[in-house]
Amino acid sequence: MERLDKFLTGAGIGTRSQVKQILKYGRVAVEGAVVKDGSVKVMPETQTVTLDGEPLGGKRRMVVMLNKPEGYVTSTDDPRDRTVMELLPETYRHQDLNPVGRLDKATEGLLLFTNDGDLHHRLISPKKQVPKIYYARHEGTATQEDVQAFEMGLMLRDGTQCLSAKLEPIGTGESLITVCEGKYHQVRRMMASRNMTVLYLERRQEAGLSLGDLPRGATRELTPEEIHNLEKVAH
Ligand code: URA
Repeated sequence: MERLDKFLTGAGIGTRSQVKQILKYGRVAVEGAVVKDGSVKVMPETQTVTLDGEPLGGKRRMVVMLNKPEGYVTSTDDPRDRTVMELLPETYRHQDLNPVGRLDKATEGLLLFTNDGDLHHRLISPKKQVPKIYYARHEGTATQEDVQAFEMGLMLRDGTQCLSAKLEPIGTGESLITVCEGKYHQVRRMMASRNMTVLYLERRQEAGLSLGDLPRGATRELTPEEIHNLEKVAH
């Protein structure tokens, strides 16, 4: 048995305050009868809960954050290498989670997983301009010309054109790079095009989310509020 409002936020239909409104408007029914009181206890395994007549339950929408260590490939299956899926705790393994975008085997940091195909698609679409912030240690030191070249939209060595990006030198051989697209080896190739070979790369932020104090190799589920913010950024 669990509270109806808790079940509804867990089902990913909105934040606590949105769920309150949804209930107030009489959009939720339990076994066909409209219920407006979120404190009512339900048994989702046996009772049918509907939103606007559509049954809820089954697969719960989830977004999980991993602090990826180096040495794992971003793939659901690999014949040689360890994959990021192996870092998901057992409880998350049967939720159809897929990595959102890709971090190279050597890259560390923030990697999201979700079982919501639509949100996944929007987060990786260059059209949605979802910002990702990387910390890089690299050869050489970034100059104002490099900063401008990033801003103008770099041409990679193979002729690929990049969208405008932000380069912030933060010390000798250290920079923060903000990009809103996800081409293959993008940051390494962008830096290489300016003769700054990347020695270490970590994704620190994506869509406004930070790693916080999540230890390397650890995962945590995003809260409904965080998912709501992701939806807004990738709208
Ligand atoms: N850019 C890269 O070059 N590698 C990553 O893993 C992510 C962005």
